[in-house]
Amino acid sequence: MIGKSAGKRASLRSSDQLSDAPSVAIVGATGAVGREIIKVLSQRQFSLSRLRLLASHRSAGTTVPFGGQPYEVEELGSNSFDGVDIAFFSAGASISREYAPVATSKGCLVVDNSSAFRMDPGTPLVVPEVNSHHLAGHSGLIAVPNCSAILMCVAVWPLHQVATVRRISVSTYQAASGAGAIAMAELEQQARDWTAGDPITQKFFDRQYIFNVFCHESKMDRETGYNTEELKMAEETRKIFDNQNLQIAATCVRVPVLRAHSEAVYLTFEKPLSPEDARAILAQAEGVRVVDDRESNRHPEPILASHRDRVLVGRIRRDLSQPDGRGLALFLAGDQLRKGAALNAVQIAECLRD
Ligand code: A2P
Repeated sequence: MIGKSAGKRASLRSSDQLSDAPSVAIVGATGAVGREIIKVLSQRQFSLSRLRLLASHRSAGTTVPFGGQPYEVEELGSNSFDGVDIAFFSAGASISREYAPVATSKGCLVVDNSSAFRMDPGTPLVVPEVNSHHLAGHSGLIAVPNCSAILMCVAVWPLHQVATVRRISVSTYQAASGAGAIAMAELEQQARDWTAGDPITQKFFDRQYIFNVFCHESKMDRETGYNTEELKMAEETRKIFDNQNLQIAATCVRVPVLRAHSEAVYLTFEKPLSPEDARAILAQAEGVRVVDDRESNRHPEPILASHRDRVLVGRIRRDLSQPDGRGLALFLAGDQLRKGAALNAVQIAECLRD
């Protein structure tokens, strides 16, 4: 089942909760994540009294469908949150930094998909399958974690409950969608260019994307050699798991895939955990679907994960470099726009109404 926490449930004060049919705003409604939030709200029949779609002046006046009706996009401004109960932000960190405080000052609850507030000590950073209890006592702003961190947490948390994970080594294979609608369009354009034999269009990424793999484009720390995405995976997972001692090493790259990320994950546990037990645990885990068929070589693939809510987990096997039985390897794939962003945000809102 998707949407309810398997772990400790949030125990919310009535002042922390949302009404049954809140007035909703989406900031960045024309973007890749914003459009997915609209779709997820509609598919999950999230009841709302009013919907406000907000974007830049470039999109003001255009319409986006919701529930069979066209909704006009408005330009984001300081009055956008008047009378709004909950706003989903997905227009980037600088917009969140500027407008989330405007929204909260008007009593509007903010669920923020950007990185702006994730590591603020007072801001809950929530994957509902893992830590919905962190919502208790929130102060009006809740952060949605980094997409790659969310997918990894959904898969690792159920195993952690049984064998206590000490170390995670992860390599990601990240799709275009994480860099927004422009990056997705660029990948599609490069496919057309290639087919037509034309020069490859290179605007958003400063290099050929199709048929290539390269270091994640986030800022690189020149001294350590880690990009920001890799650092986020480590620090955000520690916050979500409430464990500052968890050791995490990540390598994040872009692959020419449209909308689902994949990850190769190596785990070291405190106690031995067999692949058979891990498979049985994951088969019962919330938000996970085990795809692990060695006979027919069917394992998680971004195409199989696209437009799906669950994180696909497979290739569950012993890490042979850890002969004491405490090491496991697995491979996962999850839709970056859904569980990695929009679905996780809507699930948070659902937790606040339960
Ligand atoms: P717009 O389409 O009007 O530019 P993505 O992550 O897919 O690139 O989407 C970014 C989202 O953030 C879009 O909806 C975009 O709106 C919105 N956005 C970008 N800049 C601003 C801004 N200055 N004010 C409001 N929304 C913005």
